[in-house]
Amino acid sequence: MTREATLIAGDGIGPEITTATLHVLDALGVAFDWDEQYGGMSAVDRAGTPLPDATLDSIRRTGLALKGPLTTPVGDGYRSVNVALRQEFELYANVRPVKSIVPGGRYTNVDLVVIRENTEGMYVGFDRTFKVGNDPKALAQAMSVMTRDGCRRIVRYAFEYARRNDRRKVTVVHKANILKATSGLFLETAKLIAKEYEGQIASDEKIVDNAAMQLVINPAQFDVIVTTNLFGDILSDEASGLVGGLGLAPGANIGEHAAIFEAVHGSAPDIAGQGIANPSAQLLAAAMMLDHIGEVAPAVRLRRALETAIVKDNVRTKDLGGSAATTEFARAVARRL
Ligand code: NAI
Ligand code: MG
Repeated sequence: MTREATLIAGDGIGPEITTATLHVLDALGVAFDWDEQYGGMSAVDRAGTPLPDATLDSIRRTGLALKGPLTTPVGDGYRSVNVALRQEFELYANVRPVKSIVPGGRYTNVDLVVIRENTEGMYVGFDRTFKVGNDPKALAQAMSVMTRDGCRRIVRYAFEYARRNDRRKVTVVHKANILKATSGLFLETAKLIAKEYEGQIASDEKIVDNAAMQLVINPAQFDVIVTTNLFGDILSDEASGLVGGLGLAPGANIGEHAAIFEAVHGSAPDIAGQGIANPSAQLLAAAMMLDHIGEVAPAVRLRRALETAIVKDNVRTKDLGGSAATTEFARAVARRL
C-alpha cells in the first residue's frame, strides 16, 4: 500500500526520533508517500511562522500526519502550535494508550487507554486577568465550556474504541459533585450513552481525585478512561509515569477529517542533538497510525518487535536505564522485524 501522509519532523529530538521511525517503517515494509512539512521553531526559522499554510494545506489534503514534538516559541504572539492544530482540524479525541513493557517496574500489568476530550473544557482559551485599583492582576478568571454535542461525541468515541479494540470497560472520570454544570453535563451525557452499550461494554464512573489515587494504588482495574480536557491531560501523564515515563507514551489526535499521531512528550531540549532520545513513543505513535488506516497486522508486528527489542534483547535507551543510542535502538527493532 502507498498512502500519502504528512510528515513533520519537529524540533529538538524530533528529527532524531523521526529518522529512527522512518528506518523502522522501512524495515516493516509499509510505504507511506510522505509529504514533508515544517512546524514549530524549525518553521519559524524557514517561513517566519510556527504553523505555515503549506503545513495546514498538506494535512487538509492527506488527512493523516505523523508529527514530531514542536517547541512553542516563548513570547507573545505565538500560541501553542499543538493546540492550534487540534482546533484547526477539530481533533476532538486525544487517545493515549499506556501499557507496561519494561519488566521490573513497580507495575507490570498496566494496559489502559486514556481518551481525553481535546477541544472543549478548560482549554478553550478564556483565561484572563483583571485590574482592580493599581493591581493589574488582582483577579484571574478562567472559563470552561462544554457542549452536549462535544460530550456526546467523545463518550461515543470511547465506547466505539472499546468495542473495536476488545476492551471490556469504560470508566467515566468527572468532577460532577462540584462542577455541577460542566462536569455534570459530561456525566449525564456519558450515562445515557453507556446505557446503549449495556451488555456489551461495562462502564463505571469515578470522581477525578479518587481516580488519580486509584491509578497509583491499582492501575490494573482501569481499561478505557474517558474524561474532559484538563483531567485527561493530567491523568494521561500520570498514567504514562506508571509504565516507564514519556519515552514510551504515544498519542493520537483524531477528528472526523484528519488525524495526527505523535509522542506525548515534547522536544526535550535538554537531550536534543545527543542521539540518546528514546524513539519508542514515536514508533508506537506510528503503530497507532497504521491501526487508524486499517493496517492492523503491521501495527501488531511493530509493537511486538519493539517490545522484544526492549525486553528480550535488552536494548534500552538511557531513560529506560540502558545505554543504547537512538539509532542503535531503531536498528534493534528493525532486526526483530
Ligand atoms: P519534554 O517532554 O520535552 O521533556 C520532559 C523530560 O522528559 C525531559 O527531561 C526530557 O529529556 C525527557 N524526555 C522527553 N522525551 C524523551 C524521549 N523520547 N527520550 C528520552 N527522554 C525524553 O517536556 P518539556 O521540557 O516541558 O517541553 C519542551 C518543549 O516541548 C516545550 O517547548 C514544549 O512546549 C514542547 N512540547 C511539545 C509537545 C508536542 O509537540 N506535542 C508536547 C509537550 C511539550
Ligand atoms: Mg500534557
